[in-house]
Amino acid sequence: MSSINYSEKIPNNINLAEDRTLQRALEQWQPNFLNWWDDMGPDGSQNFDVYLRTAVSVDPQGWAQFGHVKMPDYRWGIFLNPGEQDRKIHFGDHKGEAAWQDVPGEHRANLRRIIVTQGDTEPASVEQQRHLGLTAPSQYDLRNLFQVNVEEGRHLWAMVYLLHKYFGKDGREEAEGLLERNSGNADNPRILQAFNEKTPDWLSFFMFTYFTDRDGKMQLAALAESGFDPLSRSCRFMLTEEAHHLFVGETGVGRTIEATCNAMVKAGITDPYDTEAIRKLGVVDLPLLQRKANFHMSVTRDLFGSEISSNGAEAFSSGLKGRFNEAKLTGDDHQLHNETYSVTRVVDGKLVDEAVPALRAINCRLLDDYMADCQGGIDRWNKTIEKAGINFKLTQPYKGFNRRIGEFAGTRISPDGTLLSQTDWDAQKGNWLPNDSDMAFIHSLMQPCHESGQYASWIAPPRVGINQQPVDYEYVKID
Ligand SMILES: [Fe+2]
Ligand SMILES: [Fe+2]
Repeated sequence: MSSINYSEKIPNNINLAEDRTLQRALEQWQPNFLNWWDDMGPDGSQNFDVYLRTAVSVDPQGWAQFGHVKMPDYRWGIFLNPGEQDRKIHFGDHKGEAAWQDVPGEHRANLRRIIVTQGDTEPASVEQQRHLGLTAPSQYDLRNLFQVNVEEGRHLWAMVYLLHKYFGKDGREEAEGLLERNSGNADNPRILQAFNEKTPDWLSFFMFTYFTDRDGKMQLAALAESGFDPLSRSCRFMLTEEAHHLFVGETGVGRTIEATCNAMVKAGITDPYDTEAIRKLGVVDLPLLQRKANFHMSVTRDLFGSEISSNGAEAFSSGLKGRFNEAKLTGDDHQLHNETYSVTRVVDGKLVDEAVPALRAINCRLLDDYMADCQGGIDRWNKTIEKAGINFKLTQPYKGFNRRIGEFAGTRISPDGTLLSQTDWDAQKGNWLPNDSDMAFIHSLMQPCHESGQYASWIAPPRVGINQQPVDYEYVKID
């Protein structure tokens, strides 16, 4: 079960050869995927030899093989974690029943919507990142970008497999739709707004992989709990790939901070707000990093949907989507009929905490778990700043800051959690979100640095390379 068959046209560990109908459907979809990759995948880099890791088994240890590959030759395939014998649904109204190996008829439409929504984000991020290869700060970073891109492509395959295998004709139509919608397209955009935003520079990429891929992690983790076993097993394997994306984000931001702190110390600058002097050093000032982080955090929080949601309740009760770490949670019955959960709401111009039926607050809970999960990396970034003796701390803005969806939509709230008038917001938002001069400065830093072992001024080299290669290894052979 755990080894992957690479002799087939579509690598897999699901015995694809024995399921002719599915094989035919996927083989018809494959050329469309490759066309999409050509059109919307990494711009101008299709001929580069990239030091990529490819999954060769789904064992947690040693599932990866490294080697130089041209991205269009990457072997996208279908890999599921091994099934658990006699697995039971462990939450919701079906708790205790055998996990579904087929789509439960009564939940079919909801399940399809969940899979399509998740699937839509995967190619969207590839589209958002497609121009970044032109301005990579190093070969090492360029390679990491491409690794993330090919794996997001594979995540799309993971969802398309489920649609093709379990949803018949409408599943095949949905799979086509996943290649037809495009990020930011006015007529046919991606489903979720954060995936229609631009990823215009490398700082955005690192923030995206730290904050927005982490939404991916939370969603996949919640779906890994699913009573629909094939979805659970798909997501479990996707999570192992996701870990690298989060690593790219955390270390990318971390190395940016390191370069800033080093340059400030060297130049004898102690005031983090001495923006002009700091930017002259060719590094990113810390307040700008905070504003960038504020933007990505707030946009990503919207991905969790309305804090109070009957869709969320239904997905949970019907056993399709659990809470984060559902199986490990203690303290309730995993059905939540009698529980409440505290949700912050805006009532009569005030922020109040309200006890809401826990079932209806499933989204809020996942968002709170997400925010807690974000903090570890932020603390590590702050350690770097502290060690350099600079008096500055990166923080998470208040949950309701700059939100467009859910309880806080339509209100203006500062990062410290004060409700504001529109006038006050307009006057101050340039201090909280990237302003025009920030973006122009970041843009000026985005110069390609594509020689082996060279790193742009604004980012420190990593401590160790990929797969224990040196940091000056030829990670990408350009032409
Ligand atoms: Fe993904
Ligand atoms: Fe990801």
